[in-house]
Amino acid sequence: MQRREVLKFAGVSAALLGLPGIGVAQQTWSIAPFSLGVASGSPTSNSIVLWTRLGTPALDAAGLATKPVSVTWQLAHDEQFSRIAATGVVQATAALGHSVHAEVVGLEPGRAYFYRFVAGSATSTTGRTRTFPAPQAEVKRLRLAYASCQQWGNGYYSAYRHMLAENLDFVLFLGDYIYEYPASRPSDVRPTTGGWITTLEGYRSRYALHKSDPDLQAIHAAYPWIVTWDDHEVQNDYAAMHEGLSGTPVDNFMARRRAAYQAFYENMPVTRESFTQLLAGQGDEARVFGRVSYGRLATLYTLDDRQYRDPQACTPNNRSGSARIDPGKCDSLNDPQRTLLGNAQERWLSQQFAAARSQWNLIGQQTLFGRRNYSATGGQLLKNDGWDGYPAARRRLTDALLHTRLNNPVLLGGDIHENWVGHVLSDYNNPDCEAIGVEFCGTSITSLSSATPAQLAKQLETNPHFIFANAASRGYGVVELTPKQLTTTLTAVKDATDPHSTAFTLASFVVESGRATVEQR
Ligand SMILES: [Fe+2]
Repeated sequence: MQRREVLKFAGVSAALLGLPGIGVAQQTWSIAPFSLGVASGSPTSNSIVLWTRLGTPALDAAGLATKPVSVTWQLAHDEQFSRIAATGVVQATAALGHSVHAEVVGLEPGRAYFYRFVAGSATSTTGRTRTFPAPQAEVKRLRLAYASCQQWGNGYYSAYRHMLAENLDFVLFLGDYIYEYPASRPSDVRPTTGGWITTLEGYRSRYALHKSDPDLQAIHAAYPWIVTWDDHEVQNDYAAMHEGLSGTPVDNFMARRRAAYQAFYENMPVTRESFTQLLAGQGDEARVFGRVSYGRLATLYTLDDRQYRDPQACTPNNRSGSARIDPGKCDSLNDPQRTLLGNAQERWLSQQFAAARSQWNLIGQQTLFGRRNYSATGGQLLKNDGWDGYPAARRRLTDALLHTRLNNPVLLGGDIHENWVGHVLSDYNNPDCEAIGVEFCGTSITSLSSATPAQLAKQLETNPHFIFANAASRGYGVVELTPKQLTTTLTAVKDATDPHSTAFTLASFVVESGRATVEQR
């Protein structure tokens, strides 16, 4: 087939594509290659990452499993791609799982764009994305959704279908995009293929399984995503270079972690810079923490509480991983040296706070920030895997909030598969101290919680800095910011095991700028 005919087959013309004369494979496909969808992410005021990854069945059928494939990307002002803003060609290589990351720079701030990919005779679906406003822009409104924990077998991604209609500026994903274990329970609604994953191939196929979901594909195509990870992108409860607690131990945990981090890169719309050394086999670190400003209205800090942390303290029987522990019987818990973010990230964050001028400061991190005493009998029982397991580190963060007088801090989290809403305290040992911020820890897209309503009611009583807790609902939260006010609306799906589930508003909350007080509406 001549190139002209290939392009005709793909439904576009060469002039329209602005294609260079070389570099585009004249590949015909018997199976559609863009089966894993498209995504955009890591937006700034002048850049965006466009992502896709070619599907294994198409590559196998075309005899390209080990070969590079030329993929053209296009970013346009209009959905018909008649006004191309930028275009280029990327080699999708087997070494990077045939993923495509087009890091498009030099874009206009606060603009909507359309994008798609072309490989020979095939054209991907069209995605929509948007750059952030210029850092100094006066912005009237920001709407973001926060989500986490999408265990495959526990349910369908119907929450994302409802999220599509939210008119968002971006999606903030706070970890557990995949899970490393094969199935969660006998009644899983869909099979998790591939068993325990510990290798690069395993992680790649688990991401491909998730990315086969039409609702997940649609929400990626609709909005840019900002992503961080938690433990299950590697292994349950892992802590820096220390293995966690799930499945059979591997001989070389750091090799496993490198494989998992590479697969994360391959499957997420993130920039290559942070992964350069890891992908070159020259290091173990992948820096996923960072910050981005949304005009003068807000700054978002995205943290990584897994890669640099000390191991969990006082897990019984010298086991690795997490447990609920009595802090009175755990001397090492209060060791001032213990860190959750690592020294470099902590220092960086304090510096960012000191320089911050935004009206609102959103801190997107993995888990519940405030103290959650689980004890129902008047004692203390704390989970050692979250901030409660690293009290000195939490105190350093709240001290940094206080000393820098950071405007309107808002903590966003995930991990616990329950919605919790409350106040950030300057000192969790002193329940009468002042609130210095607010917290919204989101429930899961599908992953389960075993807490009962009675347990949660008791815990709200024991931990009065929280004003709302719900373990029954799967879903997401939407934060809407204006210069004067924050509104958070929690949306729940009626039944996450129903792919066509309806959704309802579980609760909504308001915070006035300048007041660290969250109220339910
Ligand atoms: Fe989770």
